[in-house]
Amino acid sequence: MIVKSANINVMIAAARKAARGLLRDFGEVEQLQVSQKGPGDFVSAADLRVEKALRAELKKARPDYSFLLEEGGAVAGADPHNVWVIDPLDGTTNFLHSIPHFAISIGLVRNGEPIAGVIYQPLTDEMFWAEKGSGAWVNDRRLRVSARRKMDDSVIATGIPHHGRPDPDRFLGQLRKVMDVSAGVRRFGAASLDLAYVAAGRYEGFWEIGLKPWDIAAGMIIVREAGGYVSDFDGPQNPLDSGNVVAGNDHLHAPLTALLKV
Ligand code: IPD
Ligand code: CA
Ligand code: CA
Repeated sequence: MIVKSANINVMIAAARKAARGLLRDFGEVEQLQVSQKGPGDFVSAADLRVEKALRAELKKARPDYSFLLEEGGAVAGADPHNVWVIDPLDGTTNFLHSIPHFAISIGLVRNGEPIAGVIYQPLTDEMFWAEKGSGAWVNDRRLRVSARRKMDDSVIATGIPHHGRPDPDRFLGQLRKVMDVSAGVRRFGAASLDLAYVAAGRYEGFWEIGLKPWDIAAGMIIVREAGGYVSDFDGPQNPLDSGNVVAGNDHLHAPLTALLKV
């Protein structure tokens, strides 16, 4: 049975409301591709509009909670233990290029641990959500990581470092290892959705170097509640602090992590 807590209801409502403007803006961006100026400034403004809308909705419902916002940074509230960790538009480069793969990601982190998360992909109307102890869901359907046990059969997602992001050489070493043993590697361009898709059993695993808390806070709890594992590929550090993430189903998280230790 689905039992949605008050916090999850608030997060889902905020994501749905903010997504309306984002969808309108996506339509506009398609027109701007062919203009001389291009859609760059327009997309930055769209990003900020979503963040503002999410912040207003969440603040109204939970006036004391703190925020960590991709655009607005850390905003301390009266309650420092509960933090909304938000990426208003994950997959900005896709959005900018009219590639239909992006999401809104809202995590609730309590004392350093993600305890609830919502990742909304407006173009497919898929609302991925989870809360500690309540399972993971997409809309009203329960999520479970894939049952594949062999690396040979696995599809693994990743993010490729770009624009001076950390450790391209290490990434290439890791990629080489995963290429050799998996059925395929994918780079779709929205880390939050990469994690949601691991939870949904679409990918067996995902890794990326140098992510930010807003890319992964929601996805971490969604994967865990779907029966998967999320960790730092180098050791016991919290990926929210290190940004180095590996996620996988219960069979392949360990062998994937071992491959990434190059
Ligand atoms: C990016 C996406 C991408 C990942 C990058 C992130 P943004 O977030 O999640 O998949 O590879 O590292 O920065 O900039 O689109 O919010
Ligand atoms: Ca992001
Ligand atoms: Ca973003």
